Amino acid sequence: MTQKTIRYGLIGTGMMGYEHINNLKLMPGAEIAGITDPVPQSIQLAQAFLGDELKDKAKVYPDRQAMLGDPNIDAVLISSPNFTHADVLRDAIASGKHVLCEKPLATTIEDVRDVSALAKRHKGVFWVGMEYRYMPPAARFIEEIAQGKIGRLQMLAIREHRFPFLKKVGDWNRFSKNTGGTMVEKCCHFFDLMRLIVKAKPVRVYCSGAMDVNHLDERYDGRVPDIIDNSYTIVDFDNGVRAMLDLCMFAEGSKNQEEIAAVGDSGKLEVFIPDGDLVFSPRRPKNPQTFHVAVDETALRAGTHHGASYYQHQAFLRAVRGEGPVEVGADDGYWAVVMGLAAERSAKERRAVEISELAL
Ligand SMILES: NC(=O)c1ccc[n+]([C@@H]2O[C@H](COP(=O)([O-])OP(=O)(O)OC[C@H]3O[C@@H](n4cnc5c(N)ncnc54)[C@H](O)[C@@H]3O)[C@@H](O)[C@H]2O)c1
Repeated sequence: MTQKTIRYGLIGTGMMGYEHINNLKLMPGAEIAGITDPVPQSIQLAQAFLGDELKDKAKVYPDRQAMLGDPNIDAVLISSPNFTHADVLRDAIASGKHVLCEKPLATTIEDVRDVSALAKRHKGVFWVGMEYRYMPPAARFIEEIAQGKIGRLQMLAIREHRFPFLKKVGDWNRFSKNTGGTMVEKCCHFFDLMRLIVKAKPVRVYCSGAMDVNHLDERYDGRVPDIIDNSYTIVDFDNGVRAMLDLCMFAEGSKNQEEIAAVGDSGKLEVFIPDGDLVFSPRRPKNPQTFHVAVDETALRAGTHHGASYYQHQAFLRAVRGEGPVEVGADDGYWAVVMGLAAERSAKERRAVEISELAL
C-alpha cells in the first residue's frame, strides 16, 4: 500500500534548515512543499540544496503566516533563531499542523512555560529537535544503561570539547539575549540527555562558567559578545543521582567531541563520539570491553550531527503517520530550557540555583 505523502514547510532556512533539507530528501514519502525565510540569500541557498528537480515543488512563502494558513502543508520544521521560537511556535500550534521545533523551545522562563503548555494541548504531533539522543552510539549508550548494564546508575559525566560557535545569519548567536545563553542554546542537549538517562527530576544546578577565550575581539555595533565558552555544571537529581557537564568551546583539536561516562553500582559505561566506541568496565572481575557502533554512511553524510538528524526524521515521520510515539515532547523541551536557564543564573550569581526557583 502506498503511504500518504507528508508535505513539509520549513520556517528558517539557515544552516540547520539545510541539514533538514538534506535529510528530508532521503525520507520516502516526505516532500518539501514550502520554505520561508526573511533573508533572500537563505532562500537561494535552500533552493540550491533542494536542487533543480525539487526546488519547483517548494513554494516560497513571504512569511510564516502565509505558510501556516496553507492547507497544502502538513508539518512545519522550525529552524529560525532561538529568540524567534516562542512567537513562531504560538502561530504554528494555533495552525494545528504537526510541528518539529529546533531546540531550545524558548529563551526565557516565561516563554518556555507558555509555549510548552500550549504544545501539550496541541492535537498534531509536537516534537522538539533534541538530535543528540539520536546519534547511534549515544542511543546505544542510553539503551544499555536503561537495561541495567551498569547496575543502579549513580554518576553521569558528559564532556563536550569542541569548536567555537559558528557564524550565523545576522550574528544572532553572539548574544545571550538572542540564544538564552550558551547553557540554554548548546547545553539544553546535554540536560535533555541527563534527564533521559537519569529518569528523575533535577533539583539543583551549580554552574561555574564564563567567556574567557572566544569572541573577545569581536564587536557587533560596538558590543562585545556575552556567551559562555567554558563551564563546569553539576546537577543533583531527586533520585540521588548526580550528573555533570564539562563544556569547552575552544578544544576543536580533540579526538572526540563528546565523551560520556556513566557509573553504576556494578560497572561503568563510556561512549566516545565521533569514534563510535563504547567501553564497558565491570567492577569485578576487572575486564574492560570495547565495542563499536557504526553509523550508516548515508545518514552521516546528510548532516553534521553524526547521523542524528536522519534517525530523528525517521522517528518524527513515523509519529506523524501514527506509526510511532512522540519521542521528544513539550515536557522534554521545557525541562531542557529550565535546566539551562538555571545554569546561566548560577554562573552569573555564583551560587547553586534550586530548580524550584524557576520551575512551576
Ligand atoms: N539540534 C541541533 O543540533 C542544532 C544545530 C544547529 C542549530 N540548531 C538550531 O536551529 C536553529 C537555527 O540555527 P541555524 O544554525 O540554522 O542558524 P542560521 O542563522 O544559520 O539560520 C537561521 C535562519 O533563520 C532565518 N530567520 C530569522 N528570523 C526568522 C523568522 N522570524 N522566521 C523565519 N526565519 C527566520 C534567518 O534568516 C536564517 O536564514 C536555532 O534554533 C539553533 O539553535 C540546532
